Amino acid sequence: MNAPHLQIYPTAQAAGIALAAELRALVARQPDVVIGFPTGGTPRQLYAELARLAREDKVDWSQVRGFNLDEYWPLASEHPASFRSFMLHNLIEPAGFDADLLRIPSGEVATEEIDAHIAAYQASIREAGGIYLQLLGIGLNGHIGFNEPGSPATSRARLVELAEVTRNRARAQFGEDEVPSHGITLGIADILDAERVTVMAFGAEKAQAVCAALEGAIDSSCPASLLRRHPNVTWMLDTEAAQELGMFN
Ligand code: GLP
Repeated sequence: MNAPHLQIYPTAQAAGIALAAELRALVARQPDVVIGFPTGGTPRQLYAELARLAREDKVDWSQVRGFNLDEYWPLASEHPASFRSFMLHNLIEPAGFDADLLRIPSGEVATEEIDAHIAAYQASIREAGGIYLQLLGIGLNGHIGFNEPGSPATSRARLVELAEVTRNRARAQFGEDEVPSHGITLGIADILDAERVTVMAFGAEKAQAVCAALEGAIDSSCPASLLRRHPNVTWMLDTEAAQELGMFN
């Protein structure tokens, strides 16, 4: 197995600033680099810092090509809780990414079109030359993307049913509306295909999942543990998310 790189920061904001600086250097070398983007609370500070760099330092992100990890299904793209809306408001508009170059699975496709939609999404990733850097958050139950516990290492992009813990957590974003029952997600094998992976996890609520992913068994009960099969993974944690790791106890 490959030892992951571990970076521990005092706060999520400090981690966001460090990762943004890394992305800035990456984009200076290769403006049209292909990045896999996550959504959720975890990347917020990173995206805010990318926006600040665009505003104050005139960093140009407009040639970056991107593929989002996942989207709720069924869900209208314009719904405020869709990952498309999240990307528009947190990254594309404030940081000046080109919306046409950042692809997101659609929550709007009809049941009979899902397979073709997913096949086309995977084909565009291949045509782009694959994902160079896959950014990830981790779910409370160790999920990555919407690959819930039980997802095999060989899983590819597909429609999945969401775990109860995932739907409960999403409830606040949906207000009066039902949280969708399903999601479209890249599979674990798709994530492992990326050249490099950077996982972010912040806050005490993630400590157990982080510990299971880094120190538990490498199996589908904690999908993030399967990242230990990848040769180039960096974990960026804050001190709270790192607090259950053996090395600190
Ligand atoms: C969500 C998303 C994941 C995300 C994870 C953590 O359900 N599908 O892509 O990384 O759960 O979310 P958060 O960052 O809000 O804790």
